Amino acid sequence: MDYQDEKKARTQHVNAVIRDYMPTDAEFQKTLLEAMRYSIDAGGKRLRPIMLECTCQMYHGTGTIAGPFMAAIEMIHTSSLIHDDLPALDNDAMRRGRKTTHKVYGEAMAILAGDALMNYAYETACKAFSMAKPDQAASVAEALRVLSTKSGIYGMLGGQSCDVECEGRGLTEGQVEFINRYKTSALIEASLMIGGILAGAPEEDIRMLEEVGNKTGLAFQIMDDILDVTGSEAVLGKPVGSDVRNRKTTFVSLFGVSAAKARVELLSAQAMETFDHLSAKHDFLRCMLEELARRNR
Ligand code: IPE
Ligand code: IPE
Ligand code: MG
Ligand code: MG
Ligand code: MG
Repeated sequence: MDYQDEKKARTQHVNAVIRDYMPTDAEFQKTLLEAMRYSIDAGGKRLRPIMLECTCQMYHGTGTIAGPFMAAIEMIHTSSLIHDDLPALDNDAMRRGRKTTHKVYGEAMAILAGDALMNYAYETACKAFSMAKPDQAASVAEALRVLSTKSGIYGMLGGQSCDVECEGRGLTEGQVEFINRYKTSALIEASLMIGGILAGAPEEDIRMLEEVGNKTGLAFQIMDDILDVTGSEAVLGKPVGSDVRNRKTTFVSLFGVSAAKARVELLSAQAMETFDHLSAKHDFLRCMLEELARRNR
C-alpha cells in the first residue's frame, strides 16, 4: 500500500475505534453527550491515536489494549481544543471546519463538554485493564501514569496556563519553548510512549520515543504558528491570525516565518535521527512524522 492510502486507511480505522468508545447512553444529560460528540465527530488529523497504534505495532504489541488508549488520547486532545477556543482563552469561532463548540452549545456547555471528554478519557483508558492479560496489567498502569502526567500540570494543562498567562508579554525564546514543550509536545510524547509501553518495548526505547515526541511536538507547534500566518481558514478549518490577535509570543513573532521554517526542519531532522536509533522500525510512522514538517493543515 502506498503511503497516502495507508494514511487514509489508518485514519478511518482510528475513527472507528473512537466511535466504538464514545458514550452513547444518555438520559437528561443528553446535551452534554451531544456537545462531546460534536467536536470529536468533526474529525481532525487523528495524529496522536495513529502514532500510538504505530508504536504499539512497532514492538509487536496486541492491538486490543491499545484501542482504549487511542480513543482516550484523542478525547484529551479534543478537550484541550474545545477549551482552547473558549472566549476566555483564544476566543476562536471555527475548529475542524465547523463552528466551535461554545458557538453552538454556549460557553457553559463547552466548558462541561471539555471536562467530560477529559474525564471520559480516563474512564475509557481504564477499560484496558479488563482486556489485558495478567502479565499486561502493569503496562496498562504505566500507560495510565504517562497519559495522566503528560495531560496535567507537568504537561498540556501546564503549558496552556503559561500560554494564556503570558499573552501580551514579551517572552524569551526559552520561555516560548517551555510553553510549546508542555502544551503540545507532551501529548505527542505520550502517544508515542504509550504504544511502546503497552507492547513491552525496552525502557531505553521508551526514553527515545519521548525524545522523538518532544522534538516532533516542538516542530509541530512552530509549524502551527507559521500556518497561523501563512495558511488559510479553508484548508486549516480554523481561523488564521489568532496568535497576533491574542498577542502571543511565538517563534514566528520572535524570528519571522523563514527562520521559523528553518527551525522546524532542524527539529524534525533531530527527531528522525533519534527515531533511527530505536531498536525497531516502522516505515509508515517514520514517513508520517517526517511529513509533519511540510504539512499545510
Ligand atoms: C492543534 O492540533 C493544536 C496544536 C497542538 C497545535 P492538531 O493540528 O493535531 O489538530 P486536529 O486534531 O488535526 O484538529
Ligand atoms: C494550542 O495551541 C495547543 C493546545 C494544547 C490546544 P494553539 O492555540 O496554537 O492551537 P490552535 O492553533 O488553536 O489549534
Ligand atoms: Mg492556544
Ligand atoms: Mg488556539
Ligand atoms: Mg495555533
